[in-house]
Amino acid sequence: MTDEAMTGERVVPMRLQRFLARAGVASRRGSENLMTAGRVTVNGRVASELGTKVDPLVDEVAVDGVVVRLSEGFAYLMLNKPAGYLTTMSDPHGRPCVASLVPTERHPGLFPVGRLDADTTGLLLFTTNGDLAHRMLHPSTHVWKHYVALVRGIPTKRELAALAAGVTLDDGPTAPARVELLDARDATCRAVAPGRVPKGHAVVGISIHEGRKHQVKLMLDAVGHEVVRLHRDAFGPLVLGDVAEGEWRDLTPAERAELEALL
Ligand code: URA
Repeated sequence: MTDEAMTGERVVPMRLQRFLARAGVASRRGSENLMTAGRVTVNGRVASELGTKVDPLVDEVAVDGVVVRLSEGFAYLMLNKPAGYLTTMSDPHGRPCVASLVPTERHPGLFPVGRLDADTTGLLLFTTNGDLAHRMLHPSTHVWKHYVALVRGIPTKRELAALAAGVTLDDGPTAPARVELLDARDATCRAVAPGRVPKGHAVVGISIHEGRKHQVKLMLDAVGHEVVRLHRDAFGPLVLGDVAEGEWRDLTPAERAELEALL
Protein backbone atom coordinates (compact mmCIF):
# COMPACT_ATOMS: atom_id res chain seq x y z
CA MET A 1 0.00 0.00 0.00
CA THR A 2 1.29 3.49 -0.74
CA ASP A 3 1.68 6.02 2.04
CA GLU A 4 -0.99 8.19 0.44
CA ALA A 5 -3.33 5.24 0.36
CA MET A 6 -2.58 4.57 4.04
CA THR A 7 -3.30 8.15 5.02
CA GLY A 8 -6.27 8.66 2.75
CA GLU A 9 -4.37 11.29 0.77
CA ARG A 10 -3.75 9.29 -2.37
CA VAL A 11 -2.47 11.60 -5.08
CA VAL A 12 -2.75 10.11 -8.57
CA PRO A 13 -1.46 10.23 -11.13
CA MET A 14 2.04 11.28 -10.04
CA ARG A 15 5.05 12.28 -12.07
CA LEU A 16 7.30 9.36 -12.87
CA GLN A 17 10.44 10.98 -11.45
CA ARG A 18 8.57 11.62 -8.20
CA PHE A 19 7.44 8.00 -8.11
CA LEU A 20 11.02 6.79 -8.64
CA ALA A 21 12.41 9.12 -5.96
CA ARG A 22 9.72 8.05 -3.52
CA ALA A 23 10.45 4.40 -4.23
CA GLY A 24 14.05 5.10 -3.24
CA VAL A 25 15.49 4.37 -6.70
CA ALA A 26 17.42 7.66 -6.90
CA SER A 27 17.02 11.35 -6.10
CA ARG A 28 14.49 13.28 -8.19
CA ARG A 29 17.30 14.55 -10.43
CA GLY A 30 18.90 11.08 -10.62
CA SER A 31 15.52 9.63 -11.56
CA GLU A 32 15.18 12.16 -14.36
CA ASN A 33 18.58 11.09 -15.64
CA LEU A 34 17.49 7.44 -15.61
CA MET A 35 14.40 8.40 -17.59
CA THR A 36 16.21 10.45 -20.22
CA ALA A 37 18.75 7.64 -20.54
CA GLY A 38 15.86 5.39 -21.59
CA ARG A 39 16.31 3.03 -18.65
CA VAL A 40 12.79 3.39 -17.28
CA THR A 41 9.69 1.66 -18.66
CA VAL A 42 6.02 2.07 -17.82
CA ASN A 43 3.91 -0.98 -18.71
CA GLY A 44 6.77 -2.21 -20.88
CA ARG A 45 7.27 1.00 -22.89
CA VAL A 46 10.30 3.24 -22.50
CA ALA A 47 9.30 6.43 -20.67
CA SER A 48 11.90 9.10 -21.34
CA GLU A 49 9.51 12.10 -21.29
CA LEU A 50 9.91 14.04 -18.05
CA GLY A 51 6.18 14.86 -18.07
CA THR A 52 5.19 11.17 -17.90
CA LYS A 53 2.67 10.42 -15.17
CA VAL A 54 1.89 7.10 -13.53
CA ASP A 55 -0.73 5.65 -11.23
CA PRO A 56 1.24 3.66 -8.66
CA LEU A 57 -1.66 1.25 -8.11
CA VAL A 58 -2.17 0.46 -11.79
CA ASP A 59 1.01 1.05 -13.79
CA GLU A 60 4.02 -1.25 -13.79
CA VAL A 61 7.23 0.77 -13.59
CA ALA A 62 10.61 -0.86 -14.20
CA VAL A 63 14.21 0.35 -14.19
CA ASP A 64 16.63 -1.67 -16.29
CA GLY A 65 13.89 -4.27 -16.48
CA VAL A 66 13.49 -4.57 -12.70
CA VAL A 67 9.99 -3.73 -11.44
CA VAL A 68 9.90 -0.89 -8.90
CA ARG A 69 7.17 -0.52 -6.30
CA LEU A 70 6.47 2.21 -3.79
CA SER A 71 7.42 1.10 -0.35
CA GLU A 72 5.21 1.78 2.63
CA GLY A 73 6.23 5.39 2.22
CA PHE A 74 8.74 7.58 3.92
CA ALA A 75 9.09 7.87 7.66
CA TYR A 76 8.79 11.30 9.29
CA LEU A 77 9.09 11.97 12.98
CA MET A 78 10.08 14.70 15.37
CA LEU A 79 12.31 14.25 18.39
CA ASN A 80 12.58 16.56 21.37
CA LYS A 81 16.36 16.37 21.56
CA PRO A 82 17.80 16.52 25.06
CA ALA A 83 21.07 18.32 25.80
CA GLY A 84 24.18 16.16 25.66
CA TYR A 85 23.38 14.30 22.43
CA LEU A 86 25.25 14.78 19.16
CA THR A 87 23.15 15.20 16.02
CA THR A 88 24.62 12.22 14.23
CA MET A 89 23.57 8.62 13.58
CA SER A 90 26.87 7.21 14.90
CA ASP A 91 29.91 8.52 16.69
CA PRO A 92 33.30 6.83 16.39
CA HIS A 93 34.10 7.93 19.96
CA GLY A 94 30.96 6.34 21.38
CA ARG A 95 29.47 9.62 22.61
CA PRO A 96 25.67 9.74 23.04
CA CYS A 97 23.99 10.46 19.73
CA VAL A 98 20.42 11.06 18.65
CA ALA A 99 20.29 7.71 16.81
CA SER A 100 19.76 6.00 20.17
CA LEU A 101 16.55 8.01 20.73
CA VAL A 102 14.66 7.23 17.51
CA PRO A 103 13.26 3.97 16.05
CA THR A 104 16.06 3.14 13.59
CA GLU A 105 15.17 -0.56 13.50
CA ARG A 106 11.64 0.20 12.39
CA HIS A 107 12.90 2.77 9.87
CA PRO A 108 16.31 1.86 8.43
CA GLY A 109 17.76 4.88 6.66
CA LEU A 110 16.28 7.38 9.12
CA PHE A 111 18.41 10.51 9.48
CA PRO A 112 18.11 13.98 11.00
CA VAL A 113 17.23 16.96 8.81
CA GLY A 114 19.84 19.55 9.77
CA ARG A 115 21.50 19.66 13.12
CA LEU A 116 21.33 21.07 16.60
CA ASP A 117 24.42 21.65 18.76
CA ALA A 118 25.04 19.03 21.43
CA ASP A 119 23.87 21.43 24.16
CA THR A 120 20.80 22.65 22.21
CA THR A 121 17.45 21.03 22.98
CA GLY A 122 14.24 20.80 21.01
CA LEU A 123 12.72 19.93 17.68
CA LEU A 124 14.79 17.73 15.41
CA LEU A 125 13.03 16.32 12.34
CA PHE A 126 13.94 12.84 11.12
CA THR A 127 13.00 11.27 7.81
CA THR A 128 13.97 8.63 5.30
CA ASN A 129 13.08 11.06 2.49
CA GLY A 130 16.41 12.38 1.17
CA ASP A 131 14.77 14.65 -1.40
CA LEU A 132 12.70 16.37 1.24
CA ALA A 133 15.67 16.83 3.56
CA HIS A 134 17.74 18.28 0.75
CA ARG A 135 14.98 20.69 -0.18
CA MET A 136 14.29 21.77 3.39
CA LEU A 137 17.96 22.53 3.98
CA HIS A 138 18.51 24.34 0.72
CA PRO A 139 18.98 28.08 1.42
CA SER A 140 16.47 28.99 -1.30
CA THR A 141 13.66 27.15 0.52
CA HIS A 142 13.76 29.63 3.45
CA VAL A 143 12.45 27.27 6.11
CA TRP A 144 11.94 29.38 9.25
CA LYS A 145 13.18 27.92 12.51
CA HIS A 146 12.13 29.35 15.85
CA TYR A 147 14.46 29.29 18.84
CA VAL A 148 14.14 30.34 22.46
CA ALA A 149 17.40 31.50 24.02
CA LEU A 150 18.26 32.22 27.63
CA VAL A 151 20.93 34.92 27.47
CA ARG A 152 23.17 36.73 29.90
CA GLY A 153 22.17 40.38 30.29
CA ILE A 154 19.02 42.10 29.05
CA PRO A 155 19.14 43.00 25.33
CA THR A 156 18.16 46.58 24.57
CA LYS A 157 15.66 47.56 21.88
CA ARG A 158 18.58 48.70 19.79
CA GLU A 159 20.35 45.33 20.09
CA LEU A 160 17.14 43.48 19.20
CA ALA A 161 16.68 45.74 16.17
CA ALA A 162 20.28 45.06 15.11
CA LEU A 163 19.66 41.30 15.33
CA ALA A 164 16.46 41.62 13.31
CA ALA A 165 18.19 43.66 10.62
CA GLY A 166 21.15 41.26 10.39
CA VAL A 167 24.54 41.20 12.12
CA THR A 168 27.92 40.51 10.59
CA LEU A 169 29.49 37.16 11.47
CA ASP A 170 32.88 35.82 10.32
CA ASP A 171 31.24 34.32 7.23
CA GLY A 172 29.24 37.42 6.33
CA PRO A 173 26.03 39.22 7.29
CA THR A 174 23.01 37.30 8.52
CA ALA A 175 19.66 37.60 6.75
CA PRO A 176 16.89 39.54 8.48
CA ALA A 177 15.48 37.67 11.48
CA ARG A 178 12.39 37.98 13.67
CA VAL A 179 13.39 38.75 17.23
CA GLU A 180 11.50 39.50 20.45
CA LEU A 181 12.22 39.75 24.15
CA LEU A 182 9.91 37.30 25.90
CA ASP A 183 8.09 38.11 29.11
CA ALA A 184 9.64 35.98 31.87
CA ARG A 185 6.10 34.75 32.74
CA ASP A 186 5.56 33.51 29.18
CA ALA A 187 5.22 29.70 29.19
CA THR A 188 7.63 29.54 26.24
CA CYS A 189 10.46 30.56 28.60
CA ARG A 190 10.14 27.29 30.54
CA ALA A 191 12.06 25.34 27.91
CA VAL A 192 15.23 27.30 28.77
CA ALA A 193 14.43 28.52 32.28
CA PRO A 194 12.29 25.83 33.95
CA GLY A 195 12.17 27.46 37.39
CA ARG A 196 12.33 31.15 36.67
CA VAL A 197 14.50 33.37 34.53
CA PRO A 198 17.68 33.97 36.59
CA LYS A 199 18.45 37.53 37.67
CA GLY A 200 20.43 39.45 35.10
CA HIS A 201 19.27 37.14 32.32
CA ALA A 202 16.59 37.38 29.65
CA VAL A 203 14.78 35.07 27.23
CA VAL A 204 14.82 35.96 23.55
CA GLY A 205 12.61 34.41 20.87
CA ILE A 206 14.34 34.38 17.50
CA SER A 207 13.33 33.03 14.07
CA ILE A 208 15.89 32.58 11.32
CA HIS A 209 15.70 30.94 7.92
CA GLU A 210 19.40 30.30 7.45
CA GLY A 211 21.24 27.32 8.87
CA ARG A 212 24.78 28.43 9.59
CA LYS A 213 26.83 26.67 12.25
CA HIS A 214 26.07 27.95 15.78
CA GLN A 215 24.16 30.76 14.12
CA VAL A 216 21.84 31.79 16.93
CA LYS A 217 24.61 31.73 19.54
CA LEU A 218 26.93 33.73 17.28
CA MET A 219 24.22 36.28 16.47
CA LEU A 220 23.43 36.89 20.12
CA ASP A 221 27.15 37.01 20.94
CA ALA A 222 27.56 39.63 18.23
CA VAL A 223 25.27 41.98 20.17
CA GLY A 224 26.96 41.19 23.48
CA HIS A 225 24.69 38.49 24.95
CA GLU A 226 26.07 35.02 25.57
CA VAL A 227 23.56 32.21 25.09
CA VAL A 228 23.26 30.10 28.23
CA ARG A 229 20.58 27.71 26.94
CA LEU A 230 19.09 27.26 23.51
CA HIS A 231 15.93 25.40 22.49
CA ARG A 232 14.21 25.03 19.11
CA ASP A 233 10.44 24.84 19.27
CA ALA A 234 9.46 25.13 15.60
CA PHE A 235 10.91 24.02 12.28
CA GLY A 236 9.05 25.23 9.19
CA PRO A 237 5.40 24.24 9.66
CA LEU A 238 6.24 21.86 12.53
CA VAL A 239 5.72 22.80 16.18
CA LEU A 240 7.21 20.70 18.99
CA GLY A 241 4.25 21.16 21.35
CA ASP A 242 4.16 18.74 24.25
CA VAL A 243 6.64 16.10 23.04
CA ALA A 244 8.63 15.33 26.21
CA GLU A 245 12.40 15.69 26.21
CA GLY A 246 14.03 12.55 24.80
CA GLU A 247 10.72 11.42 23.24
CA TRP A 248 9.62 11.37 19.62
CA ARG A 249 6.35 11.17 17.74
CA ASP A 250 5.37 10.41 14.16
CA LEU A 251 4.26 13.41 12.14
CA THR A 252 0.53 13.57 11.51
CA PRO A 253 -0.74 13.13 7.94
CA ALA A 254 -1.45 16.89 7.84
CA GLU A 255 2.13 17.69 8.91
CA ARG A 256 3.53 15.28 6.32
CA ALA A 257 1.42 16.89 3.63
CA GLU A 258 2.69 20.34 4.62
CA LEU A 259 6.28 19.17 4.37
CA GLU A 260 5.73 17.42 1.08
CA ALA A 261 4.15 20.60 -0.27
CA LEU A 262 7.63 22.14 0.08
CA LEU A 263 8.95 19.70 -2.55
N1 URA B 1 21.98 27.98 16.35
C1 URA B 1 22.91 27.61 17.27
O1 URA B 1 23.74 28.42 17.67
N2 URA B 1 22.89 26.35 17.71
C2 URA B 1 21.99 25.44 17.34
O2 URA B 1 22.00 24.30 17.80
C3 URA B 1 21.01 25.83 16.39
C4 URA B 1 21.02 27.11 15.92
